[in-house]
Amino acid sequence: MRQASEVTFVNIGQLWMRPGQVIDGPVFIKTVQGRVRSIGPMTRVGQVQDAVDVGGRAVIPGLVEAHTHLVFAGERANEFEMRAQGVSYEQIARQGGGIRSTVAATRKAGEQELFESGMNRLDRFMAMGVTTIEVKSGYGLDFEQEMRMLRVIRRLNEAHPLTVRPTLLAHVPYGADRKEMVMDIAQRWIPEAAKTGLAVQFDVFCDAIAFDFDEAARLLRAARDAGLGLRVHAEQLGHTGISKYAASIGAQSADHLDHVQEDDIVAMAGAGTVAVLLPGCSISMGTRNLPHIRPFKAHGVAVALSTDYNPGSSVTVNLPLMGSLAVAYMGFSYDEAMAAITTHAAKVLGMADTAGSIQPGRPADFVVLDCADFRQLFYEYATPHVASVYKNGVKVYEACGSGHGRPQ
Ligand code: NIG
Ligand code: FE
Repeated sequence: MRQASEVTFVNIGQLWMRPGQVIDGPVFIKTVQGRVRSIGPMTRVGQVQDAVDVGGRAVIPGLVEAHTHLVFAGERANEFEMRAQGVSYEQIARQGGGIRSTVAATRKAGEQELFESGMNRLDRFMAMGVTTIEVKSGYGLDFEQEMRMLRVIRRLNEAHPLTVRPTLLAHVPYGADRKEMVMDIAQRWIPEAAKTGLAVQFDVFCDAIAFDFDEAARLLRAARDAGLGLRVHAEQLGHTGISKYAASIGAQSADHLDHVQEDDIVAMAGAGTVAVLLPGCSISMGTRNLPHIRPFKAHGVAVALSTDYNPGSSVTVNLPLMGSLAVAYMGFSYDEAMAAITTHAAKVLGMADTAGSIQPGRPADFVVLDCADFRQLFYEYATPHVASVYKNGVKVYEACGSGHGRPQ
């Protein structure tokens, strides 16, 4: 990709840099070799070589999507409707639908097909303003199939302008002998994924329909010993206490947390484990009790928001919409919603120094909104507001029709 040596973005109407730091314009951002060099008021812009005039629009960091299951084949549209009619996620799973039906479709699909649909979904995330994204395996469920998924994820990272961070996910027990499977994950999947660099984080789904506490704890220890970052699908359908355990061994995040308890949150606070809340699940799952930011804030736990994009429990790429839901139902301020899809999400991925904020020295990953105030992104919900997206200072996306008239 061509990298212009020096580009200055001028006439920025408002700049959201990092939590609590919003500057009113007009300001400029000077970038050199794809990194932010300096930021200042337009009165001090000086001589400019190559200028991009953003015409009073708001600029925010490239969004960070910290939790997706984006590589899969098939669809489960019927399940959305079934749940709305009163059949539960667990019932559907026990009837052979759910995760296992996606596993069957994914195993059947060719690697190229998985790659192409993955590229397509990454494009859709990019159009939402995402510049860094985590993608999990987890629909393979044996050694060969999981490594195949991770290879597809690696190809996506190589081929797509977005930064794609790979996670090995032990999703659900599969096959006749679950003891055997847990051993295989600990002794083969995890070491292989770590050694080859095919994954940088490990995640496990711990719940009544997935791995139990002891199994999940064992796998987390194996992943820690192999040097992978730790994540956990925790307290989603019921409470297991795995978020507290994961925090005690240094997990970077605990995700879902619908049934989290106070002592779990205390442990997360002590360990610097980020809470990843996934309100998109409430739409697909038809639940109404979304987790609230209050207890996390009270204990000083950083909170991220993510789509959890997957074909079953959350089928959306609209990361800004998660911010709108968080403001509407979960007690977030606009600033907390923005932090949750940028700075805090980057922390989940161990990328706090390279993504999720706009600062001198950092990669010039940012989004020009088609509005003058970043709050519009959440306030006018479920609406496209992205005018253009820059990755390492290079434009990778432009909305058609953007740039007409004044920002609203
Ligand atoms: O994060 N909770 C488990 N796994 C996914 C759902 C995957 C699926 O239903 O296919 C989740 O919600
Ligand atoms: Fe998930």
